[in-house]
Amino acid sequence: MKLTIIGTGYVGLVSGTCFAEVGHHVICVDNNEAKVKLLRSGGIPIYEPGLEELVKKNVAAGRLSFTSSIAEGVEKSDVIFIAVPTPPQDDGSVDLSFIEKVAREIAGAMHGYKIIVDKSTVPVKTGEKVAETIKRYCKSKVDFDVVSNPEFLREGFAVEDLMKPDRVVIGVRGPRPVAAMKEVYVPFQAPVIVTDINSAELIKHASNSFLALKISYINAVSVLCEITGANVQEVAMGMGLDERIGRRFLNAGLGFGGSCFPKDLSAFIKIAEEVGYDFGLLKEVQRINAAQMDRFVKKISDTLWVLKEKKIGVLGLAFKQNTDDVRMSPAIDLCRRLLREGATLRVHDPKAMDKAREWLPDVEYVADLNAVAEGCDALVVATEWEEFKALDLKRAREAMSHPIFFDGRNLFDPAEMEKQGWIYKSVGR
Ligand code: UDX
Repeated sequence: MKLTIIGTGYVGLVSGTCFAEVGHHVICVDNNEAKVKLLRSGGIPIYEPGLEELVKKNVAAGRLSFTSSIAEGVEKSDVIFIAVPTPPQDDGSVDLSFIEKVAREIAGAMHGYKIIVDKSTVPVKTGEKVAETIKRYCKSKVDFDVVSNPEFLREGFAVEDLMKPDRVVIGVRGPRPVAAMKEVYVPFQAPVIVTDINSAELIKHASNSFLALKISYINAVSVLCEITGANVQEVAMGMGLDERIGRRFLNAGLGFGGSCFPKDLSAFIKIAEEVGYDFGLLKEVQRINAAQMDRFVKKISDTLWVLKEKKIGVLGLAFKQNTDDVRMSPAIDLCRRLLREGATLRVHDPKAMDKAREWLPDVEYVADLNAVAEGCDALVVATEWEEFKALDLKRAREAMSHPIFFDGRNLFDPAEMEKQGWIYKSVGR
């Protein structure tokens, strides 16, 4: 099929590339000329495992191209996906101005029946607004359908999630666009749910909020574990073996961050409020998430007593492993708090150091994981990178003035760490 994706962020670029990979002809549009130029020259603006090779392969095969012209994308395609940012506003509600602008531009360029698909995460009823806008601004008065098709990819696993989705959600007003939408997704061999637009939009916010709730739940349980001497990982395992619960997203730690969960949670609370429902449960999820970080910082300051003039090595800056994304990263938040208390920091991340510099200018960036500990009073794990498990603990211990280790992601075994002479503190164990 001929597809256009407007917006080449995580969702747009990875979806467009994966659509091309399964045989569709895809035009990716972005209004950032520099980004389009970079993509055309074979560069990738984000780190995402497997993406660069796929982009190159599909560009070479003539199935994937990049432009800054929405009109070109609309003219040459039957199905147009909107994958532009929907950032949070100060009151927690969603800024839909990019969606509205793109809808107007699509409308202006339409000269025949088109299917306009919203892939960005949007509040329920946005599809209705997009349809009204397109109708209003489409001078040629051609037929069109608006579809909601939320994306569930996780950063760091985006290609994998796109190629093997758990489910594909298609929200429509009537039957006309269903066959084309199913054809887009046939190669992915995933269960397809066809529903109304409002339900499709709600599925996305309800899913992300539920996952955030699951993380806050285990973080709350981790507090009880610390008080009672239980081990949160054992508890999570015992809970997770119940298929109704499942082990995934039951990792206690510094709490969730990133560009989705915090934003989607606030948006969902706001959406509920606007229609007259107080979603207090989700407010508590937010409170637990913030408290989890407070507890961890307190653990550090209780142990080191005064942070002023202390040197702390921080492992991890990205908001989770396998990504260079530092937006709303708990690790960055933690670093800033430690800096505020007067500590000096030596930091390392396998992928996110470049992007972190903007947020953390006054720290020492260390390229070698095993060199971070040099001269430090304590080491802190802030992101769950698998690579950190290979840290040379002996070298780190010898390079430090005190062998104190705060593991905010429970990557190491407490008994083993203590055996090796570390003062080791983790979360919920
Ligand atoms: C999330 C959703 O998983 C995805 O379906 C949606 O499309 C976008 O939002 P993402 O933000 O990329 O994806 O990352 P995810 O892997 O879900 O992790 C989010 C945050 O939760 C990270 O900060 C991570 O460290 C934290 N987390 C995750 C935990 O603290 N514990 C867990 O058990 C799982």
